[in-house]
Amino acid sequence: MPTVAVFDTKPYDRDYLAPAALAAGLTCRFHDFRLSAETASAAAGVVAACIFVNDRADHPALEKLAALGVRHLALRCAGYNQVDLPAARALGLTVTRVPAYSPHAVAEHTLALLLALVRKIPRAHNRVRELNFSLAGLVGFDLHGKTAGIIGTGQIGRLTAQILRGFGMKVLATDPAPSAEWAAAHSVTYVALDELLTASDVISLHAPLTPATNHLIGPATLARMKPGVVLVNTSRGRLIDTTALIAALKSGHIGGVALDVYEEEAGVFFGDLSGTILADDELAQLLTFPNVLITAHQAFLTHEALSQIAHTTAENMRRLSAGEPALPNTAL
Ligand code: NAI
Repeated sequence: MPTVAVFDTKPYDRDYLAPAALAAGLTCRFHDFRLSAETASAAAGVVAACIFVNDRADHPALEKLAALGVRHLALRCAGYNQVDLPAARALGLTVTRVPAYSPHAVAEHTLALLLALVRKIPRAHNRVRELNFSLAGLVGFDLHGKTAGIIGTGQIGRLTAQILRGFGMKVLATDPAPSAEWAAAHSVTYVALDELLTASDVISLHAPLTPATNHLIGPATLARMKPGVVLVNTSRGRLIDTTALIAALKSGHIGGVALDVYEEEAGVFFGDLSGTILADDELAQLLTFPNVLITAHQAFLTHEALSQIAHTTAENMRRLSAGEPALPNTAL
């Protein structure tokens, strides 16, 4: 049976991927460490290396994989900013991803964060558990009638926009590849980024991380936002300049921030660091703000999404190891 090396795995990855791989006629060699140039040798003798969002598939790592005879890098995620694609192409490595795995999971988590933040649910929950039934300091605001700005109207951004329309929000959007038909069908208005920033009460990020979106939210864009704006990021951490965000929170300009992703999440998110000293001062500072809500990159973590990820990834690893083409729209 062909073997695949699966990097940066947690118990839930194994639970879903092992049976899907077995059904596809593959054996998994699970590693809990990430792929990097230093760890690539763990892929010796396999047909594919399978990675997640915080592995480092840079040029040196890819060179090592190619030298070991690995021909397929299977991303069990949608975003692919962690891969040096030109290097992969030059080395003859096929890179596949899972472009569509329950975008509902991420859109619904976006709403979970937004509602929890604006209605102060974590604070309320902590209080009630202490038998403190006081409502002081828990005043929120209605989403109904407010304006939401969606940055990036791909699969996830669109679903989020549609859910927000269901709440009775006015929805503005910006995207270099707008869909006029979708916008008309859901009463969403495309505007330029600056108009979205100045007009929105809630801004939600759903653009991929690219050189053009790196630090899209920085000092200049934060300054254009409405005072009191609520910002949600379930896309990629580096869309936001954390230093600038902290400054905007400290000045009181930003009303609240909900993050499922964080600029320096690699090495922090997905691990239990509860018995250690947090070395990241900016993350430590963000965690002290009462109007900041953070989850550790869990928007994708639903049964449906994990099943789809495992199925698509295993099927692609089977196909490529058998010399067949990858599933449609999954090869990069
Ligand atoms: P998608 O590829 O369907 O949509 C991305 C959209 O962003 C496209 O319409 C694109 O034209 C647009 N875009 C590109 N540059 C832009 C810019 N400068 N300004 C505004 N829009 C821009 O991707 P999908 O599936 O909607 O996912 C969005 C992002 O969500 C992914 O790139 C990924 O990084 C992140 N994600 C996060 C997850 C989590 O667990 N937190 C899980 C899955 C995806």
